[in-house]
Amino acid sequence: MFAAKPTPAETGAEAWLRYAPLSPEQAKQYSTLPTTVVAFGDSAVSISAQNELIRGLHDMLGRDVHGARSLASESAIILGTLSELHSQNIPLGKPPALSKDGYWLTHTMISRHDCLMIAAQSDRGVLYGVFGLLSKITRLQDIRSLDQAQQPYVPLRWVNQWDNLDGHIERGYAGPSIFFADGKVRDDLTRAGQYARLLASVGINGCAVNNVNANPNALKDDFIPQLARMADAFRPWGVQLALSVDLSSPKAIGGLDTFDPLDPAVGEWWNRKVDQIYRAIPDFGGFVMKADSEGRAGPASYGRTPADAANAIARALAPHGGVIFYRAFVYDHHLDWRNLKNDRARAAYDIFHPLDGKFDDNVIVQIKHGPIDFQVREPVSPLFGGLTQTNEAIELQITQEYTGQQRHLCFLAPMWKEILDFDLRVSDQHTPVKEIVAGKVFHRPAGGFVGVANVGMDTNWMHHSLALANLFAFGRLAWNPELSAETIVDEWTRLTFGNDPQVVSTITQMQLSSWHTYENYTGPLGVGTLTNIVGPHYGPGPESSERNGWGQWHRADKKGMGMDRTIATGTGYIGQYSPQVQKLYEGLTDCPDNLLLFFHHVPYTHELHCGKTVIQFMYDAHYDGAESAHRYVTEWEKLDSKIDPQRYRDVLLLLKYQAGHAIVWRDAICDWLNRLSGIADDKGRVGHHSDRFEAEDMELRGYVPVNVTPIEAASRGKAVTCQGAQQCSAKFQFKGQPGRYQIEVQYFDPNDGSSRFALEVDGHKVDEWLADNDLPTKNVDADSSTRRTIPGIALKPGAEIEIDGTPGDEDPAALDYVEIHADSR
Ligand code: GCU
Repeated sequence: MFAAKPTPAETGAEAWLRYAPLSPEQAKQYSTLPTTVVAFGDSAVSISAQNELIRGLHDMLGRDVHGARSLASESAIILGTLSELHSQNIPLGKPPALSKDGYWLTHTMISRHDCLMIAAQSDRGVLYGVFGLLSKITRLQDIRSLDQAQQPYVPLRWVNQWDNLDGHIERGYAGPSIFFADGKVRDDLTRAGQYARLLASVGINGCAVNNVNANPNALKDDFIPQLARMADAFRPWGVQLALSVDLSSPKAIGGLDTFDPLDPAVGEWWNRKVDQIYRAIPDFGGFVMKADSEGRAGPASYGRTPADAANAIARALAPHGGVIFYRAFVYDHHLDWRNLKNDRARAAYDIFHPLDGKFDDNVIVQIKHGPIDFQVREPVSPLFGGLTQTNEAIELQITQEYTGQQRHLCFLAPMWKEILDFDLRVSDQHTPVKEIVAGKVFHRPAGGFVGVANVGMDTNWMHHSLALANLFAFGRLAWNPELSAETIVDEWTRLTFGNDPQVVSTITQMQLSSWHTYENYTGPLGVGTLTNIVGPHYGPGPESSERNGWGQWHRADKKGMGMDRTIATGTGYIGQYSPQVQKLYEGLTDCPDNLLLFFHHVPYTHELHCGKTVIQFMYDAHYDGAESAHRYVTEWEKLDSKIDPQRYRDVLLLLKYQAGHAIVWRDAICDWLNRLSGIADDKGRVGHHSDRFEAEDMELRGYVPVNVTPIEAASRGKAVTCQGAQQCSAKFQFKGQPGRYQIEVQYFDPNDGSSRFALEVDGHKVDEWLADNDLPTKNVDADSSTRRTIPGIALKPGAEIEIDGTPGDEDPAALDYVEIHADSR
């Protein structure tokens, strides 16, 4: 019944478009499927559609499938727009009403031959229909009496790539840019074309290719032909090219002495520039703009508003049908942290709400899903409900900036679903976010979904094979936000790993629980991701958000934690919501536990709805989260023989790393809270690690104890480093019972060089490894802290355990501790 063998040696490059061969038994249900694919259109998109279907059917069914441009007297799969089908006199019956990118999969009889038909309003719709059909076959669905119309929920379904022209990607975790290198567009755009194919397969129709922190050079005359080459790579897949632009471009590269959006010369400059782009790229999508934010130039320099800036550029785009996404991520990052009324979360609403109705119809205000910045949990941005006469788009982050950077598993569709389904109760009506951003609630001409994707040159696109589920889910939700996270991840898993029920249920369960797991060991109760916000946004760094102007404060002190955002005593942020939502959040009685600390400052002893105190919940959540991460390893190991070797191994390594780093998180946050609050863990775990041998307490040769900053980044705040010696060692005696043990070595793997470690038991080497993981720091701290697990070691009382560390360049082979646990396997 299920694919007999996984395809060998897969790299992940094909993502969810693998078209793995079905077993003969599986293929049987498609044996009557015609093997001629007739396409009436001859555009680049039509040709892609036809070729894709031929390729997919051939690879999955192992049959000889061929293309044709006209009908012969035989059964066929027919592809065409409704107008092409009409002009070919194809009997259509009564076609369903289709929007621009929608499609219809159905059967029709032509000269007594049963034909399968993919019909649409546009070539792009036909292409989407082809992907829809292939997905069904990959998932072994019955297509014999197919008659189904699909429509996208929103017209604009874009991704943003934060690629810099030098090839580095801001918040990219999967290698360098597939578009740019050394200040230019790459000569070889094969990957760009493959990416467009992936995007098209989930209905994404636009891609802004460069960083929102835009380099004005992208608009220089000599860059435009290079952009045109990228558009050529996208075009066969119906993906429109778009560009992030810098508002100061007229001055920075245009030779003007101003970029004041209301200056006529500036308006003229944008007109000429946009005309030039459309001459080179007739199907250009438009612009994305970040202004007056995090040091970017903006209209405020001239006392102008975001609407002035957006409209000046929108007017240049309008004659060509282009749009501008103007980002609402505008805030002051020099806020006075001492003023308890200051609140970064208020900024977007405070700035944009007064401008409602002032934006042109081809401007879309692009709003991050929460009011801060892609934290592991935030409430919905109140601005969605605050713009009733303005087009809006929701910005979701696919790249896992604050959610584990594609080294940790964190499937975000469940989070996005909560946001999209949230009912903002505008004017006391049912007004869920998804309907607002689709333009349905306030009858807006445009609206959209934008996902910050940041795929890179890594063969598997996102570094972690399981992280691709987020890109897939974004596209599927933009197409249809009514889909459940379960449905989406089930689809993705079948397409990516096949239909084996154990594989499907294991991976879907892991994915569906992973956000909650990550939230548990990073920042539960709505406190925000307690990461190093002035560093790489990766490991724990709970104090980094305090006492600075960035405004990501959690205000933890001796007595309690959380931001008071109430109307009554706090920053008043809650007042930006409709009265019904205010009521939900303003009082402690109704405020949900999972957002409590986002809205309220409470004592550690405050009792949650679940009955636990805040502090005990924090401890428990961190322990639960770390345990769940550990279970992912054992769950995945059960799939050993069922997944191709490379993807199996790559994912296993990442899951093991995650399990170790979850412990770093757990201990750092629990120790920090314990120190701050002085309240012990009811369960006696925090600060008590009876199986742990601290490196600084071992017998050291060459190694020197150092204090690690911040203190919670290492166990007891100390590590040992090997500096100025060829090799160092740390030794201790095992004092437990005889038996089989698992030895866990907690060490640091900073980025400047690769150190080596070896583990010896009674003088015999039992393991050695290279510390060469690519972690986001050069320091010995919680970002570089990592763990090696060595199972199956027989130990007797008195056994001598020694770790040898050999530094490599700037990497001092730093060691934190060793833990010894009974090995139950
Ligand atoms: C975050 C991120 C930045 C990015 C910004 C944005 O703050 O850390 O790298 O530029 O968001 O969305 O503009």
